[in-house]
Amino acid sequence: MLLFTLSLLFHLSRIFVASGASCDCSSVVIPVHVDVLVPQDPTDPFAGLKSNASSLRRVDDTFNISGTFCQPNTVSNSNNSDVIQLLVHGFTYDGQYWSPPVEEFRNYSYAAFSCERGLSSLAVDCLGVGLSSRPVNASDVQYPTSSGALSEVARHLKNASIVPGLQPFKKVIGIGHSAGSAMLTFGAIVEGAQSPFDGLVLTGLLINEPGSPPALPLTPARDDTPLRWSALDPAYVTTSNRSLFYPADPNSFSPRMRVFDNFTKDVGPMATLLQGATSSLPAQFAGPVAKVVGSEDQLFCAGTGRCGDVAALTAAERAVWPAAKSFDVVVAPGSGHDLNLDFMADGPFGTFVGFVEQFSDA
Ligand SMILES: *[C@@H]1O[C@H](CO)[C@@H](O)[C@H](O)[C@H]1NC(C)=O
Ligand SMILES: *[C@@H]1O[C@H](CO)[C@@H](O)[C@H](O)[C@H]1NC(C)=O
Ligand SMILES: *[C@@H]1O[C@H](CO)[C@@H](O)[C@H](O)[C@H]1NC(C)=O
Ligand SMILES: *[C@@H]1O[C@H](CO)[C@@H](O)[C@H](O)[C@H]1NC(C)=O
Ligand SMILES: *[C@@H]1O[C@H](CO)[C@@H](O)[C@H](O)[C@H]1NC(C)=O
Ligand SMILES: *[C@@H]1O[C@H](CO)[C@@H](O)[C@H](O)[C@H]1NC(C)=O
Ligand SMILES: *[C@@H]1O[C@H](CO)[C@@H](O)[C@H](O)[C@H]1NC(C)=O
Ligand SMILES: *[C@@H]1O[C@H](CO)[C@@H](O)[C@H](O)[C@H]1NC(C)=O
Repeated sequence: MLLFTLSLLFHLSRIFVASGASCDCSSVVIPVHVDVLVPQDPTDPFAGLKSNASSLRRVDDTFNISGTFCQPNTVSNSNNSDVIQLLVHGFTYDGQYWSPPVEEFRNYSYAAFSCERGLSSLAVDCLGVGLSSRPVNASDVQYPTSSGALSEVARHLKNASIVPGLQPFKKVIGIGHSAGSAMLTFGAIVEGAQSPFDGLVLTGLLINEPGSPPALPLTPARDDTPLRWSALDPAYVTTSNRSLFYPADPNSFSPRMRVFDNFTKDVGPMATLLQGATSSLPAQFAGPVAKVVGSEDQLFCAGTGRCGDVAALTAAERAVWPAAKSFDVVVAPGSGHDLNLDFMADGPFGTFVGFVEQFSDA
């Protein structure tokens, strides 16, 4: 019970995330209307993109997407007041990934790091996760739905005030981690030049070939932690062993981070993992794109031989972004899959901000 209370507490405490001398944060809820076609079979690796109409069904619903909005608290602190970063967490994480409650929010908070450098952000909980709406039937939460909800949030940021008195933003840069990057990629495939995003920074994700979903040990969330999740559809899953998210070298991350990660973990719909091969399909997205992965990422790099030759990796990854205004791949030395959560986090944070500044001027 204590552990349950703790994780609830971390959840509720997140509005303090990254608040400080130069930054104001608040919780927001954005209602989005999503009307999409999903495959009847949620194990379809291409999430319906290669299916004929008869194997699809419609999901037409309104969802609340919850998030933490952070902005520099004086205009002079911001050179980019018309740009916002939409931060999208990975599988079995929630929006707290971008500002984890470890070391008093220092060191590992990208929301704080970027805010101190003049950039606003909205770190959302994906559909079905955290404080956002969770459809009763996990098979309603497939890439078309999750990604559609993110694009609607991006449109909202460009069309309405996120907090009273604030102008809509002119540019939205999507920054994803892992499955969050795959959701942004899915949107770029479906929407192409109509995408509401002005640039994408895709972290912790390389092309995922069909039939090779990352080998994470998964359990129905209701079996893993009945106190929190007893009522959930068993296709909402989680993982009790999160070591693959970190570098293999135990000296490269804080043991306290592992403990907090375990307490604050969330659920993910099984389809999010099974449909990851959508990231191997071409996107006609016309904005600038960058990928950032850790050299010690145990899901994509370490031991695979993919990440040593950055020029070859860039060429392979660029192939599915033929229309991108620019395309870069950065392999962050020493970082694991969760680039934000180990001792090297500072390096990738600087890389992300560099791309956001470049994309904001583009
Ligand atoms: C459409 O897809 C369904 C299910 O995958 C399949 O059974 C059917 O043969 C397909 N029809 C056509 C015309 O391709
Ligand atoms: C969204 O949140 C508002 C305010 O809490 C609530 O009134 C509304 O019913 C929610 N909508 C959905 C679709 O959950
Ligand atoms: C704003 O831009 C100026 C000039 O490029 C730079 O010196 C300053 O550090 C920037 N301020 C912030 C908060 O990024
Ligand atoms: C956190 O950052 C501070 C200041 O940059 C540094 O002194 C400290 O060692 C870092 N702590 C951890 C656990 O990384
Ligand atoms: C979830 O929805 C699908 C499609 O409508 C349906 O086939 C399935 O039985 C539903 N599952 C549950 C647990 O209600
Ligand atoms: C933008 O806002 C206007 C006025 O509130 C609304 O009519 C329109 O549907 C919105 N567009 C989008 C894409 O949200
Ligand atoms: C977690 O998985 C790793 C391999 O990925 C294994 O070495 C480790 O012993 C496992 N930890 C627990 C507590 O099962
Ligand atoms: C993770 O947290 C659960 C309770 O939520 C606890 O039972 C388990 O021992 C923890 N595992 C680790 C590796 O800290």
